[in-house]
Order: sequence, then C-alpha cells, then structure tokens
Amino acid sequence: MTAKFDEAASELEQRNSELSLEVAREGIVLLENNGVLPLQCKKIALYGAGARHTAKCGTGSGEVNNRHSVSVEEGLEACGLQVTTKMWLDACDEQMHRGEEERDAKIKQIAKKYNVFQFWDLMNAIALPIVYPTGRDITERDVADSDTDTALYVLTRQAGEGMDRRVKKGEYNCDDKEIRDLKFISEHYKNTILVLNPGACIDVNPLLEMKLGAVIFMGQAGQNGGLALAHLLLGKHNFCGKLAATWAKNLQDLPCSDSFSYLDGNTDRELYKDGIYVGYRYFDTFDIKPKYAFGYGLSYTEFEIKAKAELSGGEVTVKAQVENIGKTAGKEVVQIYLSCPSGKIKREYQQLAAFAKTDLIAVGECGTVTAGFELKDFAAYDETRSCFILEKGNYIVRVGNSSRNTTPVATIVVDREFIVEKCKRIEFAQCRVEEIAAPVRYVEEEPVGDILHLDENAIQFVQNNYDTPKVNILPETKKMNVKELTCLCVGDPTLMSGGIPGVVGASGQIDTKVCKKYGYHPAVMADGPAGIRISMKYAVEPNGKIKTGGKLPQELVKAKKLFRFLDRIWSKTSKKAKFVYQFCTAWPSATVQAQTFSPALVRQIGIATSCEMQQYKVGIWLAPGMNIQRYPLCGRNYEYYSEDPILTAEMASALTLGVQSDERCAVTIKHFCCNNQEDNRMKSSSEVNERALREIYLKAFKLTVRKAKPKCVMSSYNKVNGTYVNSSYDLITNILRCEFGFDGVVMTDWQSVAKDQAVAGETICAENDLIMAGDKFQHKELLKAVKSGKVAKTSVQKCASRILNLCKNLNS
Ligand code: BGC
Repeated sequence: MTAKFDEAASELEQRNSELSLEVAREGIVLLENNGVLPLQCKKIALYGAGARHTAKCGTGSGEVNNRHSVSVEEGLEACGLQVTTKMWLDACDEQMHRGEEERDAKIKQIAKKYNVFQFWDLMNAIALPIVYPTGRDITERDVADSDTDTALYVLTRQAGEGMDRRVKKGEYNCDDKEIRDLKFISEHYKNTILVLNPGACIDVNPLLEMKLGAVIFMGQAGQNGGLALAHLLLGKHNFCGKLAATWAKNLQDLPCSDSFSYLDGNTDRELYKDGIYVGYRYFDTFDIKPKYAFGYGLSYTEFEIKAKAELSGGEVTVKAQVENIGKTAGKEVVQIYLSCPSGKIKREYQQLAAFAKTDLIAVGECGTVTAGFELKDFAAYDETRSCFILEKGNYIVRVGNSSRNTTPVATIVVDREFIVEKCKRIEFAQCRVEEIAAPVRYVEEEPVGDILHLDENAIQFVQNNYDTPKVNILPETKKMNVKELTCLCVGDPTLMSGGIPGVVGASGQIDTKVCKKYGYHPAVMADGPAGIRISMKYAVEPNGKIKTGGKLPQELVKAKKLFRFLDRIWSKTSKKAKFVYQFCTAWPSATVQAQTFSPALVRQIGIATSCEMQQYKVGIWLAPGMNIQRYPLCGRNYEYYSEDPILTAEMASALTLGVQSDERCAVTIKHFCCNNQEDNRMKSSSEVNERALREIYLKAFKLTVRKAKPKCVMSSYNKVNGTYVNSSYDLITNILRCEFGFDGVVMTDWQSVAKDQAVAGETICAENDLIMAGDKFQHKELLKAVKSGKVAKTSVQKCASRILNLCKNLNS
C-alpha cells in the first residue's frame, strides 16, 4: 500500500506524532526562570504572532506538508488553560492574511523578470522570508479583559534556503513594536513569559531589559511544538533541552561580523578567517562571555554531577553519577570537554568530546551515565606535514552541564607526539585566508584530577590510501550505450519538464526509463530534513491525470504566460477527481533535535521515518543536513544541528542508523561541504584553510561516514577555495571516498550543474556520480562530454554502477 484514499490517521501517523511530541519536549530549552514556571494559572493572556501562527520549521525544502501543526494557543488549550486574549489574536490574524497577500504580490512582480528556463533562479529569488505581523497595540482594555496575572508572548520568525537572515528590525533584531508590546505586558502583568519561536537565535537584548518571569527558546519544534511547550510550561514534563549553539550577547562579539555573507557586500567570496574558532571555540578561547553558552539549559530541578574518567588504550571513558538535588524529577545532560595542549599548533580552549543524557531521575535519587571518546579523534591537523597529530602534553578532561560550567576530572598525560593519520596535502587549501590570531588560554596546566598516562602503543597510525577507488562495475552498464549511461548519471527528467515523479510531491528520481529497461527500480528521493516532504493531498482525475494543487505556482502562472505549463499539474481539479492523502510527520527542526542531546531519540526518528518511507515508497531521504552553524545569520541554520562537529556527528549518525536499519531506505547526508551561507549559494566560494576545513567542516562528515555508513552524500552548491565542491576530485574522491571510506552515491544539489555554474563532465570526473535534478541542459552537456572524450566511458560506467547498486535494495 502506498498513499491512502481516506483521511483518517493511521496507527503509524499517530505513533510518529507521539514521538515528534516527545522529541520537542526534550529539545525545547528553558533560558530563564525567575520562579514563574511551572505555570499555576488557569487563564492566560496570549500575545505575539507566534501564539497562533507557531512556526513548526523554516521555509524551503526543509519544510514538511504534515496534516496539522499544534500552535501554542492550541497546545495550552488542550492542556486545559483558558486563553483570554482571543480578540487580540483575531486582529493579528487579519494582519497576517494581509501580509500574505502582499508577499504574493511581491512574488508575482519578481516572477515577471524570469523566464521558464530560469526556474531555479526564480525559486531562489522568491525565497522571501515570511514577515509575521506584530499585531495591533496591546491596550489596558486587553489586560483587563484577559482577567489573569500571567501573559505569554510568542515571538516568531521564518528563514530558509536561498537567503541569509537580515540584521534588521523584525528579522534578527526585534521590531520596535515587539519591544513596546513586551514592555507594556511586563508592566501590566505580574508574570510575563517570553517564548522564542525562530529557527535560531535572535537579538534578545532589548527584551531581556524587561522584567520577565521566564524565557524559553522553543525553536521550531515540529508538528506538536505547541503541545510540547504547554506540557513543559505546566510542569507536566520537565525541561531538559540544552543549546546546540552559543548565543552571543551581540553579533559584533563574533568574528566575521563585518564580513559574513552579504554583510560586507561581497557574497562571491566568504573568507573563513575565523579558522577553527567557531561558536563556543571562539568565545572560550578569546574569553568572551556569551549571552547563553553552548550546552546551557535550565530545568525545574538541579543536579550534582560526580564523574570519573578511565583510559583504556586510546579510549577515554567517563562514568558520571548524577544526583537530583532539587524538588522535581528530571533529566540531565552530562557534557565532557577536552582541553588539548597548545604546542606547535594552537588549540581551542576546549572542545566537546562526548555527552550522555540521563534517564528521568527522581528527587533525591542518582542516575549513572557512561560516555566515551577516542583521543585520536581530537588530534590537530598539522598543515605543514599533512597529518593529524596529538602533541605531547597534558590533556584535561572536564565534565559539567554546559560549556561554561565544568570541572576538570582527569588529566591524560601524553609523553610524546603521536602522528595519528597521514593525509594527502590539499593543494587548493593552502594559506588561502589570514586567520584571526587566538590568545593561548590553555597551554598546559598542572595535571588535575586523576592522572592517566597514554600508553606508548595506544594509538594506531593510519596511512590513507589514495588509489582510485574500486567499484564493482555491473555487467548491465557494459551493455548500455552512452546515452543510457549518461541518463543514469543525471536525475530523471520528468520532474524538470513539469511532470510528476514516482511519488507525488517528491524532489526527484533516478532515471526511470533506463532502470526499467535493465530491471531496476528507479529510487525516488524526497526532502528532508524535518520529515518527508511529499504532497499531503493530490487529486487523481478520472482519466488518470494527477493534480497537486498549490498556491505558489499559481502565482507564477498568473505572473507569466510561460509558466502556464505548470498549470497542467497545479490547476483546479474536477468534481469527479479522487483525493489521495500522504500524511508525513513534521519532526522538530534539526537544531531542536540536537538540543535533546539524545542520539537515542534521534535514532527513533530515523526508524519512524523509514516506516513512512516504506509506506509511500520513498527510497532516498534527502537528510540529514549537517553543515556547521558557523554564523547565526545563515538562513538554513534551523536545518542543521549545531556549531559543534561532535554533536552534529552523533545526531547525523543516529538518524542514519535509524533510517538505514531498514535496508530499503537510504539517507543523504548533506551539504558536503562548507555550505554555511545561503545568499548566492550557487556561486559563492568558501575560502578556508585546510586545518579549519578538516577539524571543523569535514569532521562531522568523516565521523558519520565511518560510524553509520550513509548510502548517499549530497555535494553542496558552493565552491571551496574557488572549485565547485561537486567538481573537486580532492573533496569527493580523495577525502570523502579514500580517507573517510564512503562507498555510496554522491549526488549534486539540485540544479548545481547549469550555465555559468558547475560543468557536467567535471562532476563525473570528480566521481560525483549523479547530477540532480535532471534537466535537458544537464543531459545534453553530459552526453556531449562523454562523446567528445572529455569524460571516459569507464567513468560513467563506474558512477552508473554505484547508482544501480544503490537502487537494488531500495523501496520499490
Ligand atoms: C536544497 C537541498 C534539497 C534539494 C531538493 C535544494 O535547493 O539545497 O537541500 O534537498 O533542493 O529539494
């Protein structure tokens, strides 16, 4: 069975909805509580656009078409609270609708400048952020009518692919009206609770100047976000989420605040002059106090952590006993940081090495957790010798419950230098950027805590092998003519010529004609990462034609005649049409997932998603997104886990293992690599030195590939040091395949191969197997490249074999 002809929620849908709720409850972070929470009131005054229009996720391909999302208003009501500001919320709704109309009108204007062949450029150009209304002024009358001493303000924002967040009022900064409203509320109600519903941090300074009872980072918490929040506010569950990224007091505190993306007026080249000093690595090393530290989050209770570290070979194990010394049951995240000595190579003050979350601990009880890491994974990259090294010195293991609240528990004494892994020098990543110079905050402290000596033979030296990766060339590919081979290496053209892929609303598919001829099922791909993104509802006409409906394309159709071809799919349905439903779960955003610090929960999301993939016959999920949150303004941060590679790797691995526990399903870890800005994402070059590239931006990919064996990787749109990632033999073959051991399919991001962008033949030569999404230009170009001899037939055979090997076991 695939899609359904009735609307009733299936058992799977209900089960997954419960899981989405649980993840949200564990991922929402309590930032401040001055004794106001848990809520004691029966009536609540609710304000802010996010109260009713709660954002479940950001915009773009990371969105999910789920059945229903519970708003904050609905969540509170479902828990028995009476919302007493309905008039204010209704007025806000009207403004919201007017705003949507204005946005549609703008899109129509923009669309006029494009033609149908620039469809993808157009999609980027119309990626306008949704601007939420601020509502009418809150009056004394509203306060009196609300008949309660407790008010809750939900501040919301939307962002997504194609555009970075703007430093302006109503976006990264608060709108004057938001500030005025919150001030008014805080002066008129005894208790004021501020709920933040953007995908990533915003400038909260002006808000925190007010008398607030509590502040919560809800983030974008999926389809049950509103309910999860209500459960936490009422104390039905305890907060246990921890921030996966540092919140700066001021953007100016961050390096690159004068140059990130559009900030310096140049989106063509992004200089990674921050080097390895990303997120807390920067704040801790440069000794700058953040507003909220990485790993920080309050609870209704308090814990005391006692930990002990052991060393066996090169593996460190920390056992922690966590005692609940407060008044409510709760869970705690034990975080382990490692400070490595700065010798020849200057290190960050500390880095997250491992973490573990306790089960629910009752008041006065103790829980124990164990977490470990391999010392070799924290070796520094020596650019001069092209190898990862552990320098001689004292390595301090710190344990606590946020990056700013730790105690040293052990010192690992390393008596000599260890060369951990020998790599090939990446010529194009040498001295590209002048990096900021860090003060050395940690050289070598006197040993503290237990002293553990690293054994002479504890670390195995790895010499990477850069021989051309071997692929089992399938006999079918030898029978194929050049046209068939190139067709396989480019996405199925149906979607890009206005048709419908194998699953309605999916993002792409492997070539159907060639697959069918040779007895393979052409796997269907759907986005990610916040759930499976396919059409929730479509119509089947009596003649078999499928119509999906939809708002945005209608705007385009009206704007330009050329877009009429889309009308075939999107136009109105007849009365005789039958409706088909495909309900998928909207999970909390990747950031909120990471804030759970629970790989076990994220693995469950993976398993649950594989069931939906199986139900709707999706073979390849275009998730997880695992770019590093390098700077708070990146439009897509909500789709990514964290600023930290270890947390990112743990989450991405858990998700991968969950999804791929069903061998008919594949994940696609994306966007490999350095896609850390959205403005001009298809043409910009991330200029980054080799060490930062390897220690920060490639590390999570490396660990995930080695630990969880994802079946697909999506190369990113951008260039790295002037070369398109999808055309870089160094990145795709030497590093991803030879060093990390990836043996699956690498696909481009959608429409990266285009005029004035990456060149089809060059991507195949780099062993980027598949060019997506698959338009005529891409097909023509690749065929031309093979026929002219620029690309060897054996190269396409190799890529085609990888693609068919992938399809063999996937959902059909
Ligand atoms: C995004 C990818 C996505 C693809 C397919 C692109 O614009 O960057 O993350 O998977 O579209 O929808």
